[in-house]
Amino acid sequence: MTQIFAHRGYSASYAENTMGSFIEAEKAGADGLELDVQLTKDGEVVVIHDEKVDRTTTGSGFVKDLLFKEIRKLNANKKGLKKEQIPSLVEVLEWLQTNKLICNIEFKNGLIPYEGMEEKVIQLVRKYSLSERIIISSFNHYSIVYSYRIAPEIETAPLFIEGIYMPWIYAQSIRAKGIHPKHSAMSDNILFNTMENGIAVRPYTVNKEEDMHRFFNLNCQAFITDDPVKALRIRKQYEKK
Ligand code: G3P
Ligand code: CA
Repeated sequence: MTQIFAHRGYSASYAENTMGSFIEAEKAGADGLELDVQLTKDGEVVVIHDEKVDRTTTGSGFVKDLLFKEIRKLNANKKGLKKEQIPSLVEVLEWLQTNKLICNIEFKNGLIPYEGMEEKVIQLVRKYSLSERIIISSFNHYSIVYSYRIAPEIETAPLFIEGIYMPWIYAQSIRAKGIHPKHSAMSDNILFNTMENGIAVRPYTVNKEEDMHRFFNLNCQAFITDDPVKALRIRKQYEKK
């Protein structure tokens, strides 16, 4: 059965990439989470999508120019009532020990080549013994190949925004066990062929009901959605079959 990964947590209803959003995704029954990581000025791995804190928090400036203690003062739930801090990856990994969720960690190191990010994340994943429940992805494919080299036990998956020719050949060549394509960038035929060749397919970001039906029918390994509750409701129809 196609797994449901909550994109930046249950971000359709809660502030993205916050503990509140992750906890609600788990409560709702999602199989996994997707989250984004950047590095602070003092080298802490923090969970935030943009290179700057401006869009999602009460602060301003680049994550790379702020100390972790400064980052923690910001409110990552600008529109809500309850204050949410930008989580550290440590906080998320500790919490993951209390449940069975899969966690897709996306390295946001395409624009800023955070030195040492791969080592830091891998060291933490190993420390918390979570290697089997983590999937590392990135649009920066050099970074995920490097991750594989230093931690072959942790699954990797390149992200694609456009279709590529025979993606399973590419995935095999970089020793990735899966690919995470933009959902509209992959035909049924290519998706089917990729899975037939032993590569998991987890499209993003699947929010419309008709698209969710498409991927449940194709029985791909997972899809990434802002609305795990909607996806779980639709999946029930397939579980009865
Ligand atoms: O991991 C899938 C998706 O999150 C990639 O795009 O911009 O939402 O991080 P973005
Ligand atoms: Ca992401």
